[in-house]
Amino acid sequence: MGKKRTAPGLLALKGKERVVCLTAYDVMSAEMADAAGVDLVLVGDSLGNVILGHGTTLPVELEDVGYHVRAVKRGLSDALLIADLPFGSYQCSTEQAVESAVYLMKCGAEGVKLEGDYPEAIEACVKAGIPMMGHVGFTPQSVNGFGGFKVQGRDDGEEILGVSQRLAEAGAFGVVLEMMTATLSQKITQSVDCLTIGIGGGLHCDGEIQVWHDVLGLSAKQYKHAKAFVAGRELFTDAIGRYAGDVREGKFPGEENSF
Ligand code: KIV
Repeated sequence: MGKKRTAPGLLALKGKERVVCLTAYDVMSAEMADAAGVDLVLVGDSLGNVILGHGTTLPVELEDVGYHVRAVKRGLSDALLIADLPFGSYQCSTEQAVESAVYLMKCGAEGVKLEGDYPEAIEACVKAGIPMMGHVGFTPQSVNGFGGFKVQGRDDGEEILGVSQRLAEAGAFGVVLEMMTATLSQKITQSVDCLTIGIGGGLHCDGEIQVWHDVLGLSAKQYKHAKAFVAGRELFTDAIGRYAGDVREGKFPGEENSF
């Protein structure tokens, strides 16, 4: 077992060591991320896409995130477990945000992330003892407002910088910078005291986050912001095909698999 990561511990790495973050949604993916030395595991509302097959994260419910947090929790020893507040679970009021964040903490999260310009919600959750992360740039829950999956920061850089600063001042220990120009993410990284964690945000962020399925090449789609470190989809499809072949040809189960 390595060293248990905490929000203050990761924050102390700013400017010294890059922070490695990855999503996970079940116990075995959590075990593997932990064994590989990932610092922070996020149960993202991207589960709506990669686990449930929706086109957006909008249908994800708070209870869906809670269900996956419980599973991931059982697989982690060292990595910090952060959970996403899904669409509709925090935008109505600060009270709603605290209630939803408390629910995820009771499921086993060690911190919570929300998207957009909600510094009051961040402040209230931090006051309740919950380590908080923000998320700016392309925020998937606002895909309809953006009019599609579009890179941010080309003409609204100052606005995104301002939101990042507000979230940091409200007490967020980190902020995800998604799909924005590298120039803007560098500027934000230099101007906030909290960690900046990029995804499609260039190399100047304090750390990086990627989706499990993209890193392992499981997604059918390839994204510019992602890199498959193994051709998992082909590898697994081939393995399942060999299993099917062995069953059909009477080669499996063999004597060694029988009682
Ligand atoms: O939902 C998610 O997985 C995320 C990360 C990709 C940042 O928010």
